[in-house]
Amino acid sequence: MNEALCLTTNASAIRPYELALSNQARAALKKQRPRCVWLTGLSGAGKSTLANALELHLHQYGLHTFLLDGDNVRNGLCRDLGMGDGCRRENIRRMGEVARLMFDAGLIVIVAAISPFRAEREAARQLFAAGDFIEVHVSTSLEVCARRDPKGLYRAVREGRIKDFTGIDSPYEAPLAAECRIDTDALELTTACRCLAAILLKK
Ligand code: ADX
Repeated sequence: MNEALCLTTNASAIRPYELALSNQARAALKKQRPRCVWLTGLSGAGKSTLANALELHLHQYGLHTFLLDGDNVRNGLCRDLGMGDGCRRENIRRMGEVARLMFDAGLIVIVAAISPFRAEREAARQLFAAGDFIEVHVSTSLEVCARRDPKGLYRAVREGRIKDFTGIDSPYEAPLAAECRIDTDALELTTACRCLAAILLKK
């Protein structure tokens, strides 16, 4: 991260400005209840696949959504971050803050990121009122993820070309009390997607 840039901010001199248009008014116009659905799990667990299917499903119901995918966000907003613990913590923090802004705009936000640390996921949860944050543990086992290896990353780890890889030589702290747990090896995509949509379509 660019420390010189970070040091120019004096947080105590910044006061939040109360916006004239409320979150409720934005959501009412969209005729929906905004939420944040947070998918966490190992690389290759099926987070992005499930998140995409869910977003398409909700879109077909006429709901307004946005999908924040770890790989995409790391290409833009978080391109300055690496894969060390500190950078991952900052990555999760930024995704939480962006999710909250999108929630304020009235959207159902789907986050799909490894987000390996419990404390940072909990901090993201704290940005939302109870019931507005739905943590989904995409709990597909490491063995299955490594066998699928959709991006060839597990192979790269075995060949010593990547280090600090989640579940191998970088920790993954599984949720203790996620709202939902989905093993994509045991549950069909359409069923998993319907289960999540059912939670969201409940008012
Ligand atoms: S997080 O840990 O900071 O939440 P995030 O979900 O944004 O990770 O990005 C993970 C993506 O980066 C993976 O889907 C994978 O494609 C890629 N990646 C590259 N290097 C690693 C690594 N060392 N560990 C895990 N994922 C990696």
